[in-house]
Amino acid sequence: MDNSNDALRTALAYRFGASAADIPPGAGPDACPETWLQLAKRGSCRHFTDRKVAPELVETLCALALSSPSKSDLQQRDIVIIDDPNLRGRLDTLMTTGPLAQAWISGAPALLVFCGNNRRQRQIHEWRQRPFVNDHLDAFFNASVDAGIALTAFVIASEAAGLGCTPISAIRNHAQEVSDLLGLPDHVFPVAGLGLEWPKWPPRISPRLPLAATVHRNGFSEAGIKETVEAYDQRRDGVQPMQSQRAIERFGKAEFYGWSEDKARQYAGPERADFGAFVVKKGFALR
Ligand SMILES: Cc1cc2nc3c(=O)[nH]c(=O)nc-3n(C[C@H](O)[C@H](O)[C@H](O)COP(=O)(O)O)c2cc1C
Repeated sequence: MDNSNDALRTALAYRFGASAADIPPGAGPDACPETWLQLAKRGSCRHFTDRKVAPELVETLCALALSSPSKSDLQQRDIVIIDDPNLRGRLDTLMTTGPLAQAWISGAPALLVFCGNNRRQRQIHEWRQRPFVNDHLDAFFNASVDAGIALTAFVIASEAAGLGCTPISAIRNHAQEVSDLLGLPDHVFPVAGLGLEWPKWPPRISPRLPLAATVHRNGFSEAGIKETVEAYDQRRDGVQPMQSQRAIERFGKAEFYGWSEDKARQYAGPERADFGAFVVKKGFALR
């Protein structure tokens, strides 16, 4: 055991609300892999320096991201790099206006869009003159998951290089407009954007629900889940309180405003209710 293992256990203990002694020691290699520590301590980054992210670096990160696993080797995800200032400005306008606007996005030095692509598979069927008989929800689901996996790999690779990033679901706030701007054909759709930058300061570890609630053994269990979430609300409020309360005009100002109240208020309002219709218009059968 070396110091990096101690650092790993400390970071995970903070993340999941355990004492470092409760995190199993020596469960891995003697020296903690750098990637483990990186993941344990990671956090999204929305504050950045002026330093540009070199185009070659972005391309390397894309290559690393697309080295990640892909369902049945179908490779149903693509990445769109946005480096045209005019296009970037138009995407920023879409993401920084309207009810789900997020102002920070326009400042992120680099922007990418991770897309699900089930089109290529359908093209292959045409070229090979083989019937495509899987025109159902699974086609959309597999492409979405593939894009999500590539996004995750991109995040891990970026953070390992000292970059900061944050996925951006706001890219789907105006899915049709974004699709038109990017020229996405049928069966190709945005899953998430990604803001990429050199961070102003190190990431903040965001506490997660305890592992006892989210890691199951031999089957699903939610014994004591309400109490667990309430305890998490308290712990999180102690170390990383919610910065503001949502929808005070609708729900009033809460005396105690924890994570679960924030999430309940968030989804008490519609978010991207038109996305299903967009996906159907893209040609997917969601049944
Ligand atoms: C698919 C996806 C979409 C996200 N969309 C946004 C977004 O639109 N804006 C944002 O600020 N953060 C977004 N995030 C980042 C999450 O808010 C963040 O991961 C979460 O708050 C946990 O914080 P952490 O990443 O610092 O641990 C997104 C994350 C994921 C995985």
